[in-house]
Amino acid sequence: MKILVTGGAGFIGSAVVRHAVAQGHAVVNLDALTYAACLGNLASVADSPLYAFERADIRDAEALRRIFRDHAPDAVMHLAAESHVDRSIDAPGGFVDTNVTGTATLLQAARGYWEGRGRPAGFRFHHVSTDEVFGSLPEAPGQRFTEATPYAPNSPYAASKAASDHMVRSWGRTYGLPVVLSNCSNNYGPFHFPEKLIPVVILSALAGQPIPIYGDGGHVRDWLFVEDHAEALLRVLTRGKVGRSYNLGAEAEVTNLELVRRICRLLDLRRPAGAPHAELITFVADRPGHDRRYAIDPGRAATELGWRAQVSLEEGLSRTVDWYLENRDWWQPLLERAGLGRRLGLGAGA
Ligand SMILES: NC(=O)c1ccc[n+]([C@@H]2O[C@H](COP(=O)([O-])OP(=O)(O)OC[C@H]3O[C@@H](n4cnc5c(N)ncnc54)[C@H](O)[C@@H]3O)[C@@H](O)[C@H]2O)c1
Repeated sequence: MKILVTGGAGFIGSAVVRHAVAQGHAVVNLDALTYAACLGNLASVADSPLYAFERADIRDAEALRRIFRDHAPDAVMHLAAESHVDRSIDAPGGFVDTNVTGTATLLQAARGYWEGRGRPAGFRFHHVSTDEVFGSLPEAPGQRFTEATPYAPNSPYAASKAASDHMVRSWGRTYGLPVVLSNCSNNYGPFHFPEKLIPVVILSALAGQPIPIYGDGGHVRDWLFVEDHAEALLRVLTRGKVGRSYNLGAEAEVTNLELVRRICRLLDLRRPAGAPHAELITFVADRPGHDRRYAIDPGRAATELGWRAQVSLEEGLSRTVDWYLENRDWWQPLLERAGLGRRLGLGAGA
């Protein structure tokens, strides 16, 4: 199958590209190369005859038309997005532009291409979204997000992703475009951009700098190893039912404070620093509108796609910490990019 992957130079998109090529799919990576992109994530496939790259913006209808015409993909996996909640609090406009308008522009281009080819039933438009569209769960364990949970996004990022989900669904219902959707929990693993929680913790600890924890650290997230997610996404694409959405998670709930302590313990073993790294933990002002708890019920993906996460949180964190220790050449230059190392998301921007 030939897959057009948008956002393939990002964290999850690059894992999808590597995984798809390893499975023998041809991949066209369409990416605008924003601050969050890193083509180095694709070094292992860059020379493969199965891989092609197109630098383009999903808001550029003309470029999209040309790319569909030139590459004639069998499917689209749409991951391109502005993805950092804190940045969405400071500057929401860009999130609406890319995540909402960009997705609508991409849908129109995909629709024009699909109709021009006689509406092939096997074509797929797979939209990759987040569990943040469902809002926050009660703190007590038990309740989890299912595909029937009502949407209640709380951050500008989550709202923009919710809007894009609705766009995708409506293109399916109104125009018959064969769409599938997936909503996943927090991802982590190699190539995670160093503004997100887990790399921030690892790199702050390594530098002997304060490890920031928002609020009281009691926020619960459900962590999914990125390579497990990439496999799930390919199953959604190839086996998912048209018009359906799939919740993807690893059933690995933990508070942010406990997560950070686990990472500190791993670093204590690998890079003893004289004092426990956990002594660097520093509580900072909470994020406005910060959701208290996310948890995914992945039952539909298990039943319909035969998918279950394979990597436990313990193993995934250990592999992630080792990867950052071994790949300073990857992350060091990224620390120079705009906004890194600075507290974002207190609502102080435009
Ligand atoms: N990271 C997570 O934990 C997580 C969880 C759930 C869902 N998601 C979703 O998965 C997708 C990928 O997330 P990620 O963490 O890999 O994001 P990322 O920020 O690492 O990568 C996003 C990529 O999209 C590209 N991009 C941004 N705007 C673009 C535009 N206008 N046109 C073309 N390309 C553009 C960037 O250059 C970058 O390569 C996103 O849609 C995100 O909402 C992420």
